[in-house]
Amino acid sequence: MTNEIKYSIIDSTNDEAQRQLQNGIAPKEDFVIRADFQTDGRGQRGNTWHSPNAMNLMFSLVHYPVKLEARHQFMLSQAAALSVAEYLAQKGVADVSIKWPNDIYVGMKKICGMLIENAVSGHYIRYSIIGIGININQTAFPDNLPNPTSLAIQTGREDYDLDTEFATIIEILRQNIMGISTANADILMKRYKAIMLGLDRTLIYRSGGKVFKGIIRDVDKHGFLTVEDAETHEAQQYAFNEVNLVIPEQKK
Ligand code: BTN
Repeated sequence: MTNEIKYSIIDSTNDEAQRQLQNGIAPKEDFVIRADFQTDGRGQRGNTWHSPNAMNLMFSLVHYPVKLEARHQFMLSQAAALSVAEYLAQKGVADVSIKWPNDIYVGMKKICGMLIENAVSGHYIRYSIIGIGININQTAFPDNLPNPTSLAIQTGREDYDLDTEFATIIEILRQNIMGISTANADILMKRYKAIMLGLDRTLIYRSGGKVFKGIIRDVDKHGFLTVEDAETHEAQQYAFNEVNLVIPEQKK
């Protein structure tokens, strides 16, 4: 069981977790901050995360790793992404993949985003705030989102009970996150690469001002991505934020 603190409204579950940790009032064991609605939900790259009230899952799992060096932090990302993918597969969703580093896609559509914020002390991770938003019952999305989908759209049901879904996903997450160990790094990497979007496949990427056809050739244990230019065959390594998959126009 993971201790859950639930809000009907909060600015951001990641921010609330951070506040509790900084004020010294946070539980000393792994816990979750969950909300029905966020007024200031945050995404990666300074983006915002919007979700209508009580339609989707939004939560932040605060995990205190026992002894995980900061240089292994990509394992947290991998384990969290694999957990959501595993959950969706269990729900009968096909064609689930991980868009590097940790977005979850169904086909070319995004169903889940994550914002992972780690606090490091010395060489080690003191705590990790794993913020996750999974689209569950929402079927209509604002036009400015290029490619959203949800569990409801994928399965044709719109009546998922969020508490039940949360209990399922948190158990999968707990197991994968508790199972993180450098001894298992290779297995985790294998599982990650097995469902990674774009591995050995030509897709369109943007890096800086340049748009190019690229093929993901590798991701290393620190999370660096190697993309080969499909025309020049030159391979380059990218850190997060340095390269982005360009999603083709979607039929709405
Ligand atoms: C992204 O795709 O850019 C990441 C989105 C992360 C959204 C979740 S919702 C719960 C948690 N609280 C936040 O403010 N953000 C994350």
